[in-house]
Amino acid sequence: MSLEKGEVVRKPLIAGNWKMNLLVGEAVGLVSALKPLVKGVSTVDIVVCPTFTALHVVSQVLKGSNIELGGQNCYTKENGAFTGEISPQMLRDIGCAWTIIGHSERRQYFAESDAFLNEKLKFALASGLKVMFCIGETLGERQSGKMNDVLKRQVSQGLVGLSEVDFDRVAIAYEPVWAIGTGVTATPEQAEEAHAFVRGLVADQFGKSVAEKLRIQYGGSVKADNAAELMAKPNVDGALVGGASLKADSFAAIVKAAL
Ligand code: PGA
Repeated sequence: MSLEKGEVVRKPLIAGNWKMNLLVGEAVGLVSALKPLVKGVSTVDIVVCPTFTALHVVSQVLKGSNIELGGQNCYTKENGAFTGEISPQMLRDIGCAWTIIGHSERRQYFAESDAFLNEKLKFALASGLKVMFCIGETLGERQSGKMNDVLKRQVSQGLVGLSEVDFDRVAIAYEPVWAIGTGVTATPEQAEEAHAFVRGLVADQFGKSVAEKLRIQYGGSVKADNAAELMAKPNVDGALVGGASLKADSFAAIVKAAL
């Protein structure tokens, strides 16, 4: 099945995942510098995902701009006795349109399972958020030839129960764990191969039209100087950027590479 860009227009989605970085003043400095650099860009969706403590102030700075706000995580309940957690309703209340769910750091350090992430995904969608849902194999899984099985499990269990309309508010971020924060980027060919495989899995599970419309971002050491070649690949529809999103210049350059 050919599911390439030419058949359906998928607007590139470039998101900055700030992870556990930047104090409030630094966060304000970053978005204040970023806004003018990407002003007028309308053919790329731009999102920043600050820490929870910076969300409110960043939301104020971004008002009226073309940059959307996202959380990095959220819980499966609206409110209640869940110490340390944050709900999708709270993210929306503070101005978030998006959240990341299933980042490999959540899977690895906080033992978040496919079933739990599926619950989170469904609750975030039901609460009105758009979701960047992360998947990706570790180096060991790739080297032992298990990559396709891992992606298949993460897609089939992570997305189970979604309806066709849910996919209007879902993007998948393919982030090979071995490329995150390591400076080792997947080659454009490796990214394209994985993205095409993932799109095929979604087509098998949810149908061709869902798969054709679905945006699949690449993540893992995306930088200003490798973004264009990655995004030139037909199945790469944007990027989820960690380290290089912490500087306005480099993040803006990545946004422009998607134009
Ligand atoms: P990186 O992180 O760009 O620093 O590799 C990407 C991510 O984890 O989302």
